[in-house]
This record gives sequence, structure tokens and C-alpha cells, in this order.
Amino acid sequence: MRAADIPGELTEILVTEEQILAKLEEIGARVAADYAGKDLLLVGVLKGAVMVMADFSRVLPVTVPMDWMAVSSYGAGTKSSGVVQIRKDLDTDLHDKHVLIVEDIIDSGLTLSWLLENFESRGAASIEVFALLRKPDAAKVEVDCKYVGFDIPNEFVVGYGLDYAECYRNLRDVAVLAPHVYA
Ligand code: XMP
Ligand code: MG
Repeated sequence: MRAADIPGELTEILVTEEQILAKLEEIGARVAADYAGKDLLLVGVLKGAVMVMADFSRVLPVTVPMDWMAVSSYGAGTKSSGVVQIRKDLDTDLHDKHVLIVEDIIDSGLTLSWLLENFESRGAASIEVFALLRKPDAAKVEVDCKYVGFDIPNEFVVGYGLDYAECYRNLRDVAVLAPHVYA
């Protein structure tokens, strides 16, 4: 479904599906060139990155393995707690792999900086990050993110994998959730 179908629950559409798919093509071309001849592993962070992983992996011109990690730092609220828990670990040994972490969004940066530190101890040949969205004004820690889709304002957003209380992930667009929904 499209964000425009539920205008009462959203205040603004920030990124449309069309804009997302065009950006994935662009970043996919960069990634394909940067990793030519290298042993690339895509690591998606569940559950938010499911949509971006599905669409991004399919714009790549080569087959790549993917693995998933589930961490949680939010609970049911809208603010990061900074306390990260592994809910599902990787199935893959990272040793000598060129790892590209695929994330939906960098908000405070706390989750990703924790994840990067965790991965660095596992012997990967390299670790880079692709985040579809980033909120520069929300950063509590700097995260070195090589590929960024869109910088967005510091507001709680849903859609394209991003949820509020597990809903809205199946919106095709990214939109700002109306405060009355979570107030
Ligand atoms: P941090 O703050 O640690 O965020 O960079 C980590 C994870 O929190 C989720 N997140 C959001 N989910 N709307 C959402 O639906 C948002 O605006 C939002 N900001 C952060 C997301 O899973 C991210 O990976
Ligand atoms: Mg996430």
C-alpha cells in the first residue's frame, strides 16, 4: 500500500517508493564497482532492513550471499534505549569476508556503533555500512556510513520496513508518523 492511502495517520511523505528504487540502483552500481572481485557478504539487520535488503540485493548484477542479524534497542517505544540485545546471531563466519551491513535507518547511531564493534572482533576483511535513511540531527555517536540513501529530519518515520508497534512496515513509501498515533 501507499502512504497516500492513509493520510490521517501520517503527517508527511518523506521518500516515495520511486525515489527509493532509483536510489537503490545508484548505490547498487557503486557497490558492484567497489566490491568487484571481492568476497562480499550482505548482512541485513532485522526486521527493519527486510525491504531494503530485498530490493537492494536484486539490483546487484552478481549473486551475493546474505545473512541476518536481529538486535533490539527500542522495545515498543519510539526512542533508542542504547541497550542492544542480540535476538538472532549470524549463521555465517565473518572471517575474511567483506561485510556490507544493510540497515534501514541510522537514528542515534547507537545500534550500529555497537554492531560495528561486535563485528570487528569476528575477523572480517572489511566492514562497511549501507543505510537507506539517516537522521543527522539525531546522532549521539558518529557512525562511519559509506553508503547513505537519504538524510531525513529528526522525526519518527515509518514505512518501507520501518514500523511503529510492528505496523506500517508494508507501506511502500517512508513517511512521518502522526504524533496522535503514538501519543
Ligand atoms: P539507533 O537510534 O540505534 O536506531 O540508530 C536503531 C534502530 O531503531 C529503529 N529506528 C526507527 N524505526 N522509525 C522506525 O520505525 C524511526 O524513525 C526509527 N529510528 C530508528 C531502526 O530499526 C533502527 O535500525
Ligand atoms: Mg533497524
